[in-house]
Parts: sequence; C-alpha cells; structure tokens
Amino acid sequence: MSQSTSKARIRKAVFPVAGLGTRFLPATKAVPKEMLTVVDRPVIQHVVDEARAAGIEHFIFVTGRNKGAIEDHFDIQYELDRTLRDRNKIKELQLLEIDLPGAGQTSFTRQQSPLGLGHAVWCAREIVGNEPFALLLPDMLHHGDAPCLKGMIDSFDRHQGNIVAVYEVPDNETHQYGIVGIEQKGGDLGITQMVEKPAKGTAPSNLAISGRYILKPEIFDILATQERGSGGEIQLTDAMITLAKSQEFYAHLFDGDIYDTGMKIGFLTANLALGLAHPELAAPLRAAIKRMGL
Ligand code: UTP
Repeated sequence: MSQSTSKARIRKAVFPVAGLGTRFLPATKAVPKEMLTVVDRPVIQHVVDEARAAGIEHFIFVTGRNKGAIEDHFDIQYELDRTLRDRNKIKELQLLEIDLPGAGQTSFTRQQSPLGLGHAVWCAREIVGNEPFALLLPDMLHHGDAPCLKGMIDSFDRHQGNIVAVYEVPDNETHQYGIVGIEQKGGDLGITQMVEKPAKGTAPSNLAISGRYILKPEIFDILATQERGSGGEIQLTDAMITLAKSQEFYAHLFDGDIYDTGMKIGFLTANLALGLAHPELAAPLRAAIKRMGL
C-alpha cells in the first residue's frame, strides 16, 4: 500500500558518509572525517545517538573507499571486550555497549563514486524501500536542549509531509547556503521556496538548510534521473525542488547550535562547545582555558 495514503512512521535513517572530506586534509587522508573525535566519541556516534533518541530503528550508512573504520566502530570488538572483561573494566565495557546499535539494526552500502549528496542518498533506495525516512548529514552536529530529529519526527506525525531542518544565518551570508522561503501552515512552517546559494540580496529568508531531512520515498524516483548540478555533482536540493512541485515540504526551525565538523573551525568550535557542556570535563576545560589567559 502506498505510504501517502496511510499514517506512516519514520523507522529508518540514512547517513551519507562517502564524501572525500577535502576541506579537512590532511587529517582525513586515512581517517574518515566522520571518525574524528568530538570530545569523547566520533562525530558519527553523536549523530547516530541523535537518531536513536528520536526512535530510529535502522541505521543505513552510505560509505565509500577508506571508510571501513565506520563499519568497525559499529561492530563488537571481541578482543577488546574480552580484555576489558579480564581486567574487570566494567565501566568501559558498558560505554561500548551503550554506543552500539542492536544486531541487524545497521546496513552498509557503497557509493562507488562520490558523485554528490543526491547520488549518495539514491544509493540507499533499496535498503530504505517504499517508506519515508530520515536523512542526517553526519558532519553537521546539532547541539541543543531539544534534539533536532526528534522534533522533526513529532512534526511529521502531525502533517506527514517532507521536512527540512533549518537554522538562522546572518543576512549577509545567505549566498553560502541552501535557503528556504516559509509561510505559516496550520501550526507548522510550510516551505514556499528552496534556493541553493541565492545571489546576494535575493534570498527569500535567512533560514538555511541544516543537514537534517525527512523525505518521502518518491525522492528516489527523481534522483534516479537527476542531472548533475552545481559543482558537477548530483544535488539533493535540486531533487527536493522537483519533489516540492507535487508534495508538501515543511521547515523545522532548529533551536540550538550547529557545527560543521567537516571544516577545521567548525570542528574546533564543536569540541570547545561540547566540552564546556560535558558534566565531567566542563570545569577542568574552563580552568585550562583560563590558564591560557583567554
Ligand atoms: P560535503 O560536501 O560536506 O562532504 O557533503 P565532502 O564532499 O566529504 O567534503 P569536502 O567538501 O570534500 O570537504 C555533505 C555530506 O554528504 C556526503 C558527505 O560524506 C557528507 O556527509 N557525501 C557527499 C557523500 O556521501 N557522497 C558524495 O558524493 C558527496
């Protein structure tokens, strides 16, 4: 039965992790950027945790070459487990267990060539199947009191439409982002327009697409024939603009901080912000910053 005629539930989340991470070279030459550590866990673990907190049951990773460490991270390390057990390191063992999705809850597929985000999402089509799904860009770390994806799923339960998370950026920076135009629609924000990197002075708002989406499966049909767009890549935004002609899109305004950990400055800022919010590390980190005379 078509999902559009029955009340659908978001069970699956897609994590595209096949990008080359060129903005963070040389750190990302041999280590996937998603495995770089923010405070005490890899970037990808933070984002998987956000999805689990929102009730996601199946985690789909679109990987590429040199990304094997991500698959290993979400697997049991028998030798490590055994050594920790032998040494009675129960706390460390529990930490490993908490981070791990259950058996059969992860899937990995490969994007053989990095043809763009839209192409990476399309590579997940067989595993997602005919149901709406969440899409989380792992390098965009969302940090706030209310987890972003949870709020989006609550919103989806109300209207069953596609959703794009957005956040406010300074007016003079809108040309660097995907920007949406909005209008009130019931108790939610309907999207009237989506523009990728609008020319200066032409943006319909200062609300930028943040890297969290809920999309209906019809996006895959559009992506299947999507031409290459900006940067010679198959762009997700282009496909969403086409889908918006036949389906409703809503905006979810994320009330928190967003760090682009795929960039050196975003990564450093994320470590600082999450470190200062960490119950055990906040005080010593503050003291260390003070000693630097900042
Ligand atoms: P980015 O453009 O931020 O990632 O794509 P990138 O290409 O790895 O980074 P730079 O620009 O070279 O530094 C956003 C997300 O889409 C994924 C990336 O892994 C990232 O999570 N992506 C991008 C793919 O999975 N495949 C692609 O072909 C492109």
